[in-house]
Amino acid sequence: MAGAEGKSRGQFTTRLGFILAAAGSAIGLGNIWKFPYLAGENGGAVFLILYLGFIFTIGISVMLAELAIGRASKKNPVGAFAHLKGGKWVAVGFMSVLTGFVILSFYSVVGGWTIAYAVKTATGLLSTTDAKAFGSTFGNFVSDPMEPLFYHGVFMALTVAVVAKGVDNGIEKTCRVLMPVLFVLLVVLCIRSLTLPGAAKGVAFFLEPDFSKINAGMVIAALGHAFFSLSLGMGAMMTYGSYLPRQTSLPGAALWVTSLDTLIAVMAGFLVLPAVFAFGFDPGAGPGLTFITLPAVFSKIPFGAFFGTLFFVLLVVAALTSAISLLEVVVAYLVDEKHIARRPAAIGAGAVIFALGIPSSLSFGIWSDVTFLGKGFFDIMDYLASNVLLPTGGILISLFVGWVVFAKVMDGDQGGIGQGFRWAKVWRIVCQYVAPAAIAWILISGF
Ligand code: PHE
Repeated sequence: MAGAEGKSRGQFTTRLGFILAAAGSAIGLGNIWKFPYLAGENGGAVFLILYLGFIFTIGISVMLAELAIGRASKKNPVGAFAHLKGGKWVAVGFMSVLTGFVILSFYSVVGGWTIAYAVKTATGLLSTTDAKAFGSTFGNFVSDPMEPLFYHGVFMALTVAVVAKGVDNGIEKTCRVLMPVLFVLLVVLCIRSLTLPGAAKGVAFFLEPDFSKINAGMVIAALGHAFFSLSLGMGAMMTYGSYLPRQTSLPGAALWVTSLDTLIAVMAGFLVLPAVFAFGFDPGAGPGLTFITLPAVFSKIPFGAFFGTLFFVLLVVAALTSAISLLEVVVAYLVDEKHIARRPAAIGAGAVIFALGIPSSLSFGIWSDVTFLGKGFFDIMDYLASNVLLPTGGILISLFVGWVVFAKVMDGDQGGIGQGFRWAKVWRIVCQYVAPAAIAWILISGF
């Protein structure tokens, strides 16, 4: 990446490079670990439909809003609000940084699980073909007090190492090579899963909605996951937007990233859910679902240990590219606004986030009885981030663009969207009214 905009701020060299990096932020554990188990817990097809509905209305609008704020300001989220307007709006930027801390703390715990599973798959996890055994392996692993913490630390250290070097050293190249490999492997695994005996029940669960079972919890879960999955509501896309060259079309980029992310999530659904039914697992099993089901699928393919290891390694990379974007929000703030050098900023923030992740990790084992409103620490952090902080960030970002800085983010000469955007009027109405009202209504009805 050439530093065309000054020494310290890099830029993506190509449009494709940016799309892959932004897709790298969006595509991660949210798609492959979280989406299938949320769909499993929330009525399958009903969840899928709600999720798709939110993605292509509110999601894509907020995505465009964030990219435009980022490119028009060329700043981290705190700096962006300060630069474009200032005053109370800067608080939205601070909320973004805080959300980055919260999400990364539990995200890194699950990132650690994927590293552990890459290691375990390579070293004999699949020596059994008894699908049920994978359930107890997972349970024993996550409830151990030390092992998951060790991998959480490894994952965090990797994230810090990349961010400390700066976004222009490697994120783009890594994504460009590895995301396509992940995609091909997903296609192959989907085919295997869909051809397992008994898979049809899983397909029906995923595609045939039973709206009689719909409830407010499902609607919130789908909305929250639309934000989580697209990396929206906490400035990650703003930060990446700030590195975008001026000639790139923002609506085009938003459409691409949104579509790729959705495609991968839907594929993960077709990979995990048919296999869940084929092996007789419980679709409502929660956060362990993907980790129990995938080894069972690998145990049913030739060279399963090889493909399983490869898959988990790629999943680690996908998780890392998302984690990088989370930490980057925090670090870009510390570097730009607090003038702390990149390296100590990354290491310091990483250490604090690691510590914050410890109770999340232990809540699957020795601290499982420490609960609040029936939820353990991990669930509380996840709920707070996905279902409260991100949607609230989405409301504020929409209002900001729709009412406060619309002219600025449309001004192509200032790095905004430019006049060629045919949907500008509709988009503005969505930002002014539709998105804030819909999100607020869903949040309020949830309480
Ligand atoms: N979108 C990422 C995923 O699906 C997670 C993420 C959320 C990343 C918010 C950045 C910001 O895994």
